[in-house]
Amino acid sequence: MQYKKLFTPGKIGNVEIKNRIVMPPMMLGFGQFDGRPTEKMMNYYEARARGGAGLIVTEITRVNDFSGASAFAQLAISHDYHIAPLKEMIDRIHRHGAKMFIQLHHPGRQNIGLMMGTVPLSIAMERIMGKAYDRMFYKVAPFGKKLMEKDLVLKTWAPSKSPRAYSAESKNREMSVHEIKKIIHRSSSQTEKIELDVKVGDKVRIISGPFAEFIGDISEVYPDKSKLRAMVSIFGRETPVELEYKQIQKV
Ligand SMILES: Cc1cc2nc3c(=O)[nH]c(=O)nc-3n(C[C@H](O)[C@H](O)[C@H](O)COP(=O)(O)O)c2cc1C
Repeated sequence: MQYKKLFTPGKIGNVEIKNRIVMPPMMLGFGQFDGRPTEKMMNYYEARARGGAGLIVTEITRVNDFSGASAFAQLAISHDYHIAPLKEMIDRIHRHGAKMFIQLHHPGRQNIGLMMGTVPLSIAMERIMGKAYDRMFYKVAPFGKKLMEKDLVLKTWAPSKSPRAYSAESKNREMSVHEIKKIIHRSSSQTEKIELDVKVGDKVRIISGPFAEFIGDISEVYPDKSKLRAMVSIFGRETPVELEYKQIQKV
């Protein structure tokens, strides 16, 4: 059989992939407790990029440490401190001409009861105790399994009350409206945070929204909200316009 298209480029959205070889997501267990990739994980993905894959999809990558963990040694994209190491990993993939997609993941009721709320605790303990915590963790893990069998761990969350998940076998409960809102708020405020080196007086070009293609002078910057205010000349009058970082380019 001939695969004539295998080594021809293709596009997914606006991402150009050099060939049709895609490495699907596979949970590796090579992450750090706080969700940053280990050197081992970076080497693993880079070896696949060097080997010729056009697109690599990461393992399930958690977006919430409290209710959304699937494994302790799992890649995460739940905090700003994940941005730099993820960039480093992806830069290493790009060097070989490959692209990387991140598989965003929340397990819902397929979470394991033992993990509800314990991942942030593990992150804190590892920061205090370092490698000693790693060793202790794997010794106490079998005890945790026993607690789970007896339903002595927190219930996992699901959007509505549902039977135990086949894969996780922890009891679950429906989320409150407050919990749902909290997760939605956290996800949106985190994904929209963008770092941009701008200051009052800089000139910017607006690239999207009703003022696209206008040029403005920054009059105020709100880095914690990834927003700024710029003075734009509209019908000859200087008008303040509030803009998100993603709507502008520095001139
Ligand atoms: C060890 C292992 C881990 C996996 N982890 C993930 C994962 O993190 N996310 C996902 O969507 N699929 C995961 N999968 C499913 C694989 O992506 C799937 O096996 C692969 O696409 C090949 O498809 P097939 O098993 O139907 O042949 C995993 C599979 C294995 C064997």
